[in-house]
Amino acid sequence: MNIVVSNVKGGVGKTTTAVYLAAAAAARGHDPVWLIDADRQASSAEWLEERPVEGVELVEAPSERTVARSMERHGGVGVVDTPPGDERIVRAAIERADAVVIPTRAGGVEFTRVVATIAMIPRATPHGVVVCAARLGTKDLDETIAWWTGQDVPVWGIVPERVGIASGPDARLHPEGLDIYRSVFKKATRKRS
Ligand SMILES: Nc1ncnc2c1ncn2[C@@H]1O[C@H](COP(=O)(O)OP(=O)(O)OP(=O)(O)O)[C@@H](O)[C@H]1O
Ligand SMILES: [Mg+2]
Repeated sequence: MNIVVSNVKGGVGKTTTAVYLAAAAAARGHDPVWLIDADRQASSAEWLEERPVEGVELVEAPSERTVARSMERHGGVGVVDTPPGDERIVRAAIERADAVVIPTRAGGVEFTRVVATIAMIPRATPHGVVVCAARLGTKDLDETIAWWTGQDVPVWGIVPERVGIASGPDARLHPEGLDIYRSVFKKATRKRS
């Protein structure tokens, strides 16, 4: 199965979410787990090269063709990190997704970009938002959660702002972050009747 991590907006937490989700999948015993980097910037590829994650294999697939092929050919779990700007690659990935995880930030200006991302997702494909670098207890966060709930888009996770998560490959994966992404992974892969 393939989980695609996507938001057409840049800098929201896609790469961080993809790396943590892949680690969470491996920690849950999935084998093999592929982190498929469809972003030419290769941020998740660089992350894994700098700091490998046990049980996670890297595939670089920065084109429509390579991402499609990588998603179709592996057995196991694929987590796809997508670029912010390239809508064709994003579409190629989303079309083949079993679930789409949409990282976002709290705050009103973020909604339209998420809506644009959701518009690309086939109706039957499960999708949910993850609020990244969240400031717990703020009005912005509460309003964001209420807004998505009102839109019938589930909030699969709220990841607090943490220095240990912001350090990316410079630090080992943050235990609290891993716990939260483990629960996001569970929600994204839950069997639906
Ligand atoms: N929970 C968190 N706490 C603190 N910082 C975070 C958290 N999640 C993400 N960040 C930081 O936010 C920034 C953007 O994250 P990331 O690179 O994952 O976003 P992206 O959507 O992949 O960006 P791009 O569109 O450039 O690919 C990074 O500096 C990252 O460390
Ligand atoms: Mg990225």
